[in-house]
Amino acid sequence: MNILILGSGGREHALAWAVKQNPRTDRLIVAPGNAGIAMLAECADIDILDGGVVVTFCAENTIDFVIIGPEAPLAAGVADACRAAGLLTFGPSAAAARLEASKAFTKEICDACHAPTAGYARFTDPAAAHAHVAAKGAPIVIKADGLAAGKGVVVAMTKAEALAAVDDMFAGSFGAAGAEVVIEEFMAGEEASFFILTDGVTALALGTAQDHKRAFDGDLGPNTGGMGAYSPAPVLTEAIQAQAMDEIVLPTIREMARRGTPYQGVLYAGLMIEQGRARLVEYNARFGDPEAQVLMLRLGAQALDLMLAAAQGRLAEARVNWADDHALTVVMAARGYPGAYPRGSVIRGLDGLPEDSRHMVFHAGTAVQDGQITATGGRVLNVTARAATLAEARDAAYALVDRIDWPEGFCRRDIGWRAL
Ligand code: AMP
Ligand code: GLY
Repeated sequence: MNILILGSGGREHALAWAVKQNPRTDRLIVAPGNAGIAMLAECADIDILDGGVVVTFCAENTIDFVIIGPEAPLAAGVADACRAAGLLTFGPSAAAARLEASKAFTKEICDACHAPTAGYARFTDPAAAHAHVAAKGAPIVIKADGLAAGKGVVVAMTKAEALAAVDDMFAGSFGAAGAEVVIEEFMAGEEASFFILTDGVTALALGTAQDHKRAFDGDLGPNTGGMGAYSPAPVLTEAIQAQAMDEIVLPTIREMARRGTPYQGVLYAGLMIEQGRARLVEYNARFGDPEAQVLMLRLGAQALDLMLAAAQGRLAEARVNWADDHALTVVMAARGYPGAYPRGSVIRGLDGLPEDSRHMVFHAGTAVQDGQITATGGRVLNVTARAATLAEARDAAYALVDRIDWPEGFCRRDIGWRAL
């Protein structure tokens, strides 16, 4: 079949890599893609936020299956447009993607289905929000309601910090996303990610992962989109996965269906685990980035069969075949990230690296200029390895990192420390 993947990051490179392994795949196009993706698929520079453009492109290229990587096209209704045009599509409707696009909506769903999560209140008025912070004290968590590229959350350790965050959000630092502010109880514990495929009715646990959000070793420095990840996440034991499935995921899926907005695609549940129980931190409507890189390296070709089963409403008959393995990815970022960073520096040493079922350098922000791979983004490469143990996967990933010659880049040297 002919397959179109939307997106241009390391997540989409990993999705393309897995899809490409599957003998069902005839033609593979990624829009817009990047320099790494271009080594294994065709890339097409189209506006992926415009459902009409995507539908026309699919017709012109006889696409049989569309996989939507990032949240922005989901929130913009691209899955709706594709399905309305009769295209088989992996990814939730705009109405269902509100589980990521609105934090207040997610809280409403949790209330309706009694899913365990942090206590909260919603505000559209700064004075009322201030009074709430004054009454509750710190630590406390302040969130812009809408999509803010992972930046609209402040975990405030003091009241002053919380009040400043409230003012900042209402002053418009996250644009329309901050018109409503959600204030949450602070949850202690260890955070992990649980990935579930669903066709709207059936839920299939796809795997677990943990990422490292801080920029520097020791989980210090500013928050980022993620500096590395590993799968599985040992903290998400079978028992906790079962509890999260029964108390959080399945009730959510049933509530979304009951409202007439069934959720189809991957549901990424960010969980806080404390004393052997999980509570929901947030949902995302897509695979994590860089979590998808470790999940895809572990799943390989079956990832396509599973996404197809979700899109076709056949998940009840699907199974995940797990190897008893571990994968770890190290993000190489441009020096300066997550602040300002220069673009265009040359990356050398990629040519000689092994690329097989155990080693892959996924590209997140690269381009080819004058025949050389250059850095075009903040997070640039995801150096990924798979092995029988997490320690071996880590050693293999860092052995690859050490062969990459990119003085303008940096990475954390301690990915996986919590699990190791
Ligand atoms: P979110 O975008 O909702 O995932 O929030 C970003 C990060 O803030 C999460 O990954 C957590 O580390 C942290 N966080 C969010 N909500 C809470 C909470 N209620 N208690 C503690 N930490 C939180
Ligand atoms: N790595 C976190 C995310 O994808 O949201």
